[in-house]
Amino acid sequence: MVSSILITGCSTGIGHATAELFAERGWTVFAGSRHPDQMTFKNASIKKVEIDVNDHASIEKCFQKIGDLDCVVNNAGYGLLLPFEDTPSEEIEKMFRTNVFGLMEVSRQAAKVMRVRRSGKIINIASVLSLIGMPWYAAYGASKWAVEGFSEALAHELKPFSVHVKIVEPGGVKTKFHDVAYESVRPPITDDYRERFEKKRASHGSKNDYDPPESVAELIWTAANDNSWRLRYSAPQAKRALFWQRVLGRDGLWRRLDSR
Ligand SMILES: NC(=O)c1ccc[n+]([C@@H]2O[C@H](COP(=O)([O-])OP(=O)(O)OC[C@H]3O[C@@H](n4cnc5c(N)ncnc54)[C@H](OP(=O)(O)O)[C@@H]3O)[C@@H](O)[C@H]2O)c1
Repeated sequence: MVSSILITGCSTGIGHATAELFAERGWTVFAGSRHPDQMTFKNASIKKVEIDVNDHASIEKCFQKIGDLDCVVNNAGYGLLLPFEDTPSEEIEKMFRTNVFGLMEVSRQAAKVMRVRRSGKIINIASVLSLIGMPWYAAYGASKWAVEGFSEALAHELKPFSVHVKIVEPGGVKTKFHDVAYESVRPPITDDYRERFEKKRASHGSKNDYDPPESVAELIWTAANDNSWRLRYSAPQAKRALFWQRVLGRDGLWRRLDSR
């Protein structure tokens, strides 16, 4: 039997790679984007659908159009790399609308469909930064911690209806994410933060040990095909960070390493 999946944020990066992987392996893929006409895929079977997770009407319309679904991946999201003090509050609210409230609204629509059919999987993309706090990602990290808390609670609510909620936690991934996080909002940086912040800016996003988006797509594939009640699927970099956090002590030596 062919399974069907809706993925949000498919124009680039992890969403794009996930759409290609699932289509290649025979699933019916609905690739969601704010700009569906601008997306291009190798696999011609991929169905492009419009969904702006910041707009409830757009989400409802997308679900009405698709109808029945086996799996939904909440992937659309972005970061802001800035000292918290300098991050405009309206930009934080905007980011939460996409990363948290949009994801919640998509999950609501998915739950409605899946609860009635008594099966399905909702996969929410969190981050290594939803496990550990990193400087200059305070607002983004908060949005991803919210995704963790929401998903964990929702998993309990939907389990009696055989609907799975799963969290995928990528580490650093080579995508547009890093440029968007640095470039999309450029307020003046407070003098006291500038030197430390610029050092981080200069080195971040160019790391060679970042994973390709295809590796996160494989993790999403594992989650989508796992009928156990396992909640979290961490990328190797996220697993390593958690390992060292455990070894050094969450409130011990680990705290010293993190204050860069
Ligand atoms: N790259 C990393 O290191 C990393 C690490 C951990 C977690 N993540 C998470 O992985 C997910 C995918 O990110 P990515 O690395 O693949 O980055 P990406 O290449 O920038 O893709 C993000 C996608 O999200 C959608 N999106 C971006 N801004 C949006 C906005 N303001 N409103 C609505 N949709 C928006 C876009 O899709 P459309 O333009 O098609 O609508 C875009 O294709 C995100 O949730 C991100 O937080 C990334």
